[in-house]
Amino acid sequence: MSTPIADRRGPGPTAPLSPHDYEAAARDRLQKPVWDYIAGGSGDETTLRADRAAYGRYALRPRVLVDVDRCDTATTLLGSPVALPVAVAPMAYHRLVHPDGELATVRAAGETGALTVTSTFASTTLEDTAAAATGPLWLQLYVLRRREVTEALVRRAEAAGYRALVVTVDTPRMARRERDLRNGFGLPPHIVPSNLDGARAQGLHNGQEGVSLLARHAAAHHDASFTWQDLAWLRSLTRLPLVLKGVLTAEDARRAADHGVEGLIVSTHGGRQLDGVVPALEALPEVVAAVPEHCEVLVDGGVRRGTDVLKALALGARAVLVGRPVLWGLAVDGAPGAARVLSLLHDELEEAMALSGRPRLDLIDRDLLRPHPTFVPPTDRDTTPR
Ligand code: FNR
Ligand code: LAC
Repeated sequence: MSTPIADRRGPGPTAPLSPHDYEAAARDRLQKPVWDYIAGGSGDETTLRADRAAYGRYALRPRVLVDVDRCDTATTLLGSPVALPVAVAPMAYHRLVHPDGELATVRAAGETGALTVTSTFASTTLEDTAAAATGPLWLQLYVLRRREVTEALVRRAEAAGYRALVVTVDTPRMARRERDLRNGFGLPPHIVPSNLDGARAQGLHNGQEGVSLLARHAAAHHDASFTWQDLAWLRSLTRLPLVLKGVLTAEDARRAADHGVEGLIVSTHGGRQLDGVVPALEALPEVVAAVPEHCEVLVDGGVRRGTDVLKALALGARAVLVGRPVLWGLAVDGAPGAARVLSLLHDELEEAMALSGRPRLDLIDRDLLRPHPTFVPPTDRDTTPR
């Protein structure tokens, strides 16, 4: 069997061994307002914790004496070949944690064979990001009040070679995130939303206590009146596949499929939007059941281990996305750090497939899971306030 990628990288004995180790190291390294923006959620952060805890509610039922000499993690996402069913979730402003920002992230993803979803609020332009990328890219879209800005983003994504558009539908406005309000969170002067210009690139700096400038910016620019009818407008603009991110019910999943979307991401926005919603992993089966086979369903929120990926796939996800762990890797060691986080997840998934007797992704099915007889709280390094 081939050497796991993470081991080939030859870390020293004190190198981080898991995404959790990267979390602890990133937390030590980042300034508190930046850490809080990344780690935090909305309201009581109930959903933030529940998304993670949901993975502890399933126990694995491994099969033995299966030939697992070779385990294959490769698959396709809307036709793009990827080496693993783990993609990088869209996240704003990667340069908050490392000067190379999104450029480092896409290099890391390319090295690992993972797909990246780039945020509307990236801190490098989508063109520069595409130029640095060696793996497939999708562009995440926030529909803005000025429709011509959204249309321009779509055209730029097509020209730069993005392979799908991910429309985030859970953020007509940004939820109250008390950590950001307390910190008066705004962007440092050298970081801007590089894909936007004019008024839409302003108002994000010079924070003041009691205000989240990101939330204020979203209130000013996100189009909260965007509905299913308007989705037809977006559809008419482009032949790129459309993916809706932030769907949590069978009703909306069915409606999305009726509108011809090619994919769905079951997501609570990492516990950052409506607090108290159903954990994404728990919503996944009803969404999968509601859509036709050709509509690809992904899930995110709280994926931290290869066994988490296995559980999500067993519940019907085609792939998962990971958010914060990629930023932890980026914060600790730039592109190599982000690449190592992704390759650790790859290697852990490959190991979990071998040890559960599922050498191919299509063998990972519902029989692999049962309710966990004893709830074991998941590891979380962000529990102690500082
Ligand atoms: C996000 N997320 C997000 N989603 C989106 O559609 N557009 C965006 O710009 C952002 N920005 C963003 C910034 C930061 C710092 C975080 C942590 C998250 C949500 C993200 O895509 C994803 O849904 C969650 O992060 C997944 O949960 P985990 O893996 O972080 O637990
Ligand atoms: C966030 C926005 C940018 O979650 O989606 O911070």
